[in-house]
Amino acid sequence: MAQNIYDNPDFFAGYSQLPRQVQGLDGAPEWPAIRALLPNVADKRVADLGCGFGWATRWFRDQGAATVLGLDLSKNMIQRARADTNDAAVTYRITDLETLELPESGFDLVYSALTFHYVQDFERLIRMIYAALAHGGDLVFTIEHPIFMAAKHPHWTEDEDGRKTWPVNGYSIEGERRTDWFAKGVLKHHRTLATTINTLISTGFELRRMEEFAPTAEQIAQIPDLAEELERPMILLISAYKN
Ligand SMILES: C[S@@+](CC[C@H](N)C(=O)[O-])C[C@H]1O[C@@H](n2cnc3c(N)ncnc32)[C@H](O)[C@@H]1O
Repeated sequence: MAQNIYDNPDFFAGYSQLPRQVQGLDGAPEWPAIRALLPNVADKRVADLGCGFGWATRWFRDQGAATVLGLDLSKNMIQRARADTNDAAVTYRITDLETLELPESGFDLVYSALTFHYVQDFERLIRMIYAALAHGGDLVFTIEHPIFMAAKHPHWTEDEDGRKTWPVNGYSIEGERRTDWFAKGVLKHHRTLATTINTLISTGFELRRMEEFAPTAEQIAQIPDLAEELERPMILLISAYKN
């Protein structure tokens, strides 16, 4: 049973104030890197897993997608996504990715941003997505980078040059990780990079590209706090397809 922390009122209030939720996709520094991985979606059937407020869901339609299905566990997130969308080709549903089933070959692109690390049974999810994609279909997703997940954030220390350093402990010990972020005990699931990639390969996916997001000098000039992301990767981006 998934935790559904996004329906916790304190968590939801804090999360809603993040720049990426106030400004939308342009408030996410990794968005240009994601865009570079996305296929042309004109006339495509798209699913957005863990769609949140629906920022990307609506963007796919703006890019010409035929239909977009936005799925999320949180009632709060789906309510907000529905309120902000006026488009008959977009459907939102409250769904748990742990048990989700999608129609076979029903989609040309499955997209997900910063959600799969909340899912315990990654292998089941990836197998289900593979079956739900048509041949030639794409899977593009981002997750918290496993190094970031294993780092004891926010417990950094300063080295002799005054740079923040994070101990990366238990990297090879997969399973539950708890963090205090807008609420106590937020549950995530840590998997090594090898497990993530090998799960895709053994399911049948072909890998196109992987990115470990690092901000550009220009982004750091605009938002100096982003320099921290050069110290350890925070977000992993993966693009794969079904042959
Ligand atoms: C960090 S937010 C990302 C939202 C959106 N993709 C974005 O980039 O703005 C993670 C989302 O995953 C959803 N989520 C977490 N666990 C889930 C699950 N088991 N099934 C479906 N959605 C889940 C949360 O409710 C939340 O909306």
